[in-house]
Amino acid sequence: MGYLEKRSIRDIDARGKRVIVRVDFNVPVKDGKVKDTARITAALPTIRFLLEQGAAVILMSHLGRPDGKPDLKYTLRPVAEKLAELIGQPVAFAADCVGAAAEQAAAALHDGELLLLENLRFHAEEEANDPAFARQLAALADIYVNDAFGTAHRAHASTEGIGHIVPAVAGFLIEKEIRSLGMALADPDSPFVAIIGGAKVSDKILVIENLLKKVDKLLLGGGMANTFLAAQGHDMQASLVEEPKLEWAREFLATDIAKQKLLLPADVVAASAFAADADYATCNVDNIPAGWQALDIGPKSLKLFATEITAARTILWNGPVGVFEMEPFAIGTTSIARKVAESAAFSIIGGGDSVAAVHKAGVEDLIDHISTGGGASLNFLEGKTLPGIAVLADK
Ligand code: 3PG
Repeated sequence: MGYLEKRSIRDIDARGKRVIVRVDFNVPVKDGKVKDTARITAALPTIRFLLEQGAAVILMSHLGRPDGKPDLKYTLRPVAEKLAELIGQPVAFAADCVGAAAEQAAAALHDGELLLLENLRFHAEEEANDPAFARQLAALADIYVNDAFGTAHRAHASTEGIGHIVPAVAGFLIEKEIRSLGMALADPDSPFVAIIGGAKVSDKILVIENLLKKVDKLLLGGGMANTFLAAQGHDMQASLVEEPKLEWAREFLATDIAKQKLLLPADVVAASAFAADADYATCNVDNIPAGWQALDIGPKSLKLFATEITAARTILWNGPVGVFEMEPFAIGTTSIARKVAESAAFSIIGGGDSVAAVHKAGVEDLIDHISTGGGASLNFLEGKTLPGIAVLADK
């Protein structure tokens, strides 16, 4: 991948330096309180390491999509409070990420102290990767560290632009993500089994195509499996089927590699409507009642998938296999989560909804790597270069 050859904070001397760290603190906030601390906790090893080295640490992040202008609904202030609590030391806060407020707060920072800047996306220049804005951020520090894996697929001023201006290295989280996801793509222990789910096949075509070359088995579930089943000629009734992708699915299923490696559901849980209180029943994929829709995989499919999962040495899972937010259609996804957790394989969860499913099943401690990136991990699994990593210095 080449990514592992990037320099990291281990390769620099941060003592007495001002270090600006891009973190992904894009966390859910409600009524001024942080609702999920996973992304904050994931950044702590890098922050602690730099502070212990004697650096003055300036953190920057986005939160939500405020559209390039200040909107206090998206302030990072609650995140500063939560971070102070988690790290056990004060976190100064600057009311803007550039200009006088940021410059003064940065100038007042001593070695071993911590500052969080206000939401980068309060300025349209951030997402535009504006060079002048990147220079303003860069002027606050001597060294740039990127530890925002979740945002590494974005070429923004704070993730990419700044890396061309000051020395740029990776933090521990980026290193860990790249190592786990990169290992699965480059050098997995076999059998390597991937489970891909989610509603729409159009979101995952590139992932499926890239992964199929690397895995021993690819298990497909969720709404996206409907399009493949329809392409095989099954009458999916009112199930979500992406008509424009049927032709692609037909051609894909006809390839030798797909015939060897792809496993589709044999049965489903179908419902009379897309609702938690709808009537529902288990049926084979060629026997869905008229007007009903598939909302989960059935017990036969689960057994089929479980056999592959149990035999695997490396597992990569991205996307739920059913509408797990609705209790009657959550069994497939939570059972997969448990099977992955029980397996002796090195297990990787590729971000987004599958992470929520792992938490719902209460098995997060049994998973080897839970990615903090949704879109970023998807881009990585598609084999794409992530701009926020490409810009970092080579070893
Ligand atoms: C994420 O939550 O996936 C990242 O923080 C990136 O956010 P974005 O999709 O708004 O760029």
